[in-house]
Amino acid sequence: MVDKKTYVEESESNGNNSNNNITAGKRDDVSAAVAESEGSSSPIIELEIQDIEGIGPTTARKLKEAGIVSVMDLAVTSADELAVEINASKESAAAFIIAAQKLLRDSNVLEKEFITADAALEKRRSMLRCSTGSGALDDLLLGGIETQAVTEFYGEFGSGKSQICHTLCATARQPVESGGLDANTIYIDTEGTFRPERVQEIARSRGYDSTQILKSIAVCKVYNSSHLELIIKNLGKYVDDFKAKLVVIDSVISLHRAEFAGRGTLADRQQRLNSMLHKIIRLSEIYNIAVVITNQVQSSPDTFFGDPTKAAGGNVLGHASTYRIYLRKSGENRIAKMIDSPYHPYSDVRFTVNERGSDDIEEEMKKKSSSSSKKSAKVEEEDE
Ligand code: GTP
Ligand code: MG
Repeated sequence: MVDKKTYVEESESNGNNSNNNITAGKRDDVSAAVAESEGSSSPIIELEIQDIEGIGPTTARKLKEAGIVSVMDLAVTSADELAVEINASKESAAAFIIAAQKLLRDSNVLEKEFITADAALEKRRSMLRCSTGSGALDDLLLGGIETQAVTEFYGEFGSGKSQICHTLCATARQPVESGGLDANTIYIDTEGTFRPERVQEIARSRGYDSTQILKSIAVCKVYNSSHLELIIKNLGKYVDDFKAKLVVIDSVISLHRAEFAGRGTLADRQQRLNSMLHKIIRLSEIYNIAVVITNQVQSSPDTFFGDPTKAAGGNVLGHASTYRIYLRKSGENRIAKMIDSPYHPYSDVRFTVNERGSDDIEEEMKKKSSSSSKKSAKVEEEDE
């Protein structure tokens, strides 16, 4: 848990830096980027804090001072954090959160505690998929990255994590029937590696409208772990206002990893990461957005066989992502392997990085198309 004073000071200084948030096309702040998109009529933001049972004007004011301005903000916060922020007992903080969640459920914004399996299936149907730009990688993901889920790409430097993120920015803006999400992207850049000109190149190579795509990306450059936590805290509002269906966090752990270097601070780091990541999962489900996070690898010297690297962040990160894909360099190409998923096969595929961003390997596409044409010729023969 962050010391409240430090947190507030950092939040304020981050507030002053709010013009670090820009659209990829031109320098601007997120609110301005958001204001550019049309007015939103989401039922989520029509609900007021005062509508929550048991919350009067005094508590509402305290919540506002703590930066909790919507019912959704309150519903996705953790009781420990809230208790410190509004100077209340953990029990009352938990009661406020439960009341906020109840209001959202009663307003059909949140799911009921128990839903029948057919309703769960219906919810899965509202899930959208976004192409990674590579058919092979999309196949591994059974059609692309999913909304209502957190997809983690991890791998060593140069394995293609940021390139996939850049490509997704371009594909996300495409219509749903062309493998996109027909929506905007929020790009949280913690490593200073976002390059608008790279997105432009990818868009042009694919024949997309690059001007439209650059306008559809709100970029936020993040400098320290408290800033990242603050951005995640307010992410629901940004997603709603900017009409984003894709959120990229490249990378999710590097700042925490750098700032909490000694082992003595490990528990604190893991706890802060845990609370941030849980918020990300809840946001992905509630807002039906696809969240893509990238992660580094750390060597694990206790591995005698196979690849001696594993994802950084330990169990905390492992449990936070719905799908984990391990990326590896293989000469000019890349290998992607599904590591953790409730239903994907644990297979691997090859792809490449070129001017189109993450893309299929030409020879493999040729092989695939010749084997599928052979197959269809065989089917025709059998039909005759
Ligand atoms: P770290 O962030 O350092 O951990 O690595 P990463 O996994 O994010 O690597 P990234 O996605 O940046 O991939 C870097 C690799 O992509 C380079 O080694 C190049 O092979 C390729 N690449 C990067 N930019 C370009 C580009 O503009 N054109 C082409 N053709 N390839 C590029
Ligand atoms: Mg990178």
